[in-house]
Amino acid sequence: MTASTLAQWMLQSNSTVILTGAGMSTESGIPDFRSRTGWWKNIDPRTVASVESLQQNYELFREFYQMRIKSLADCTPHRGHEILADWETRGLLKLVATQNVDRFHQQAGNKAVAELHGNIVTIRCQACGKPLPLGHFMDNAVCTYCKGKLRPNVVLFGETLPQEAWNRSLKEIQSADLVIVIGTSLEVYPVNQLPAMSKGKLVYINLDVAGNSQNFDLILQGTAGEVLAEVDKYL
Ligand code: APR
Repeated sequence: MTASTLAQWMLQSNSTVILTGAGMSTESGIPDFRSRTGWWKNIDPRTVASVESLQQNYELFREFYQMRIKSLADCTPHRGHEILADWETRGLLKLVATQNVDRFHQQAGNKAVAELHGNIVTIRCQACGKPLPLGHFMDNAVCTYCKGKLRPNVVLFGETLPQEAWNRSLKEIQSADLVIVIGTSLEVYPVNQLPAMSKGKLVYINLDVAGNSQNFDLILQGTAGEVLAEVDKYL
């Protein structure tokens, strides 16, 4: 079974949902987390991406996210993102549920996007919750309302996922005929529980498929950009 099989399933599906992870953005130049070149190969996520790092090691926390925000500025969505946006425009997909915080799906043109892990391009005060401009965070400012610590709207380890994004993704995946999982190790709870909640066909598009323990109906090994371009040829 190949890319043409997936294209056939998409054409027969009344409701297709895409679930993406960091592997969707590596071709844009953004590291993923658990591959050989991923963020967590050299950094312990608990020291920079957890609630306790925000509370107890704020300078390191802030430096880590300022660095990730800066590196985003030099990167753009790649062909794979554009294909997913085109598929939405053509009515071929219902929702992109993403673990990614780069907003590349929206930048590429997808409108129906659920940000399961938030984003790093909008900022709020940790104390009073008010939104503040990104520049304040980048300039090491404190909250203008309460002098609290500023942080991106990313879901940190130890925080709960945004209710609306979770409920929407769960609902759409439960009622989908087809769920296509792209560029994620499926190691992080609770997002890794979503594929098994689908009653429809399950497809995995990923560079590394060895670690996969979920029962996919179809596995297409390769980069997101290449595989999506191959599938797109049949649509
Ligand atoms: N095309 C397809 N797959 C790829 C590509 C690519 N170009 N590049 C990497 N991959 C695959 C890797 O083989 C790996 O299996 O994408 C997967 C990325 O897995 P992770 O690095 O674990 O990223 P992700 O699954 O998104 O992590 C989930 O962990 O740290 C948290 O909040 C963070 O949202 C993130 C969550």
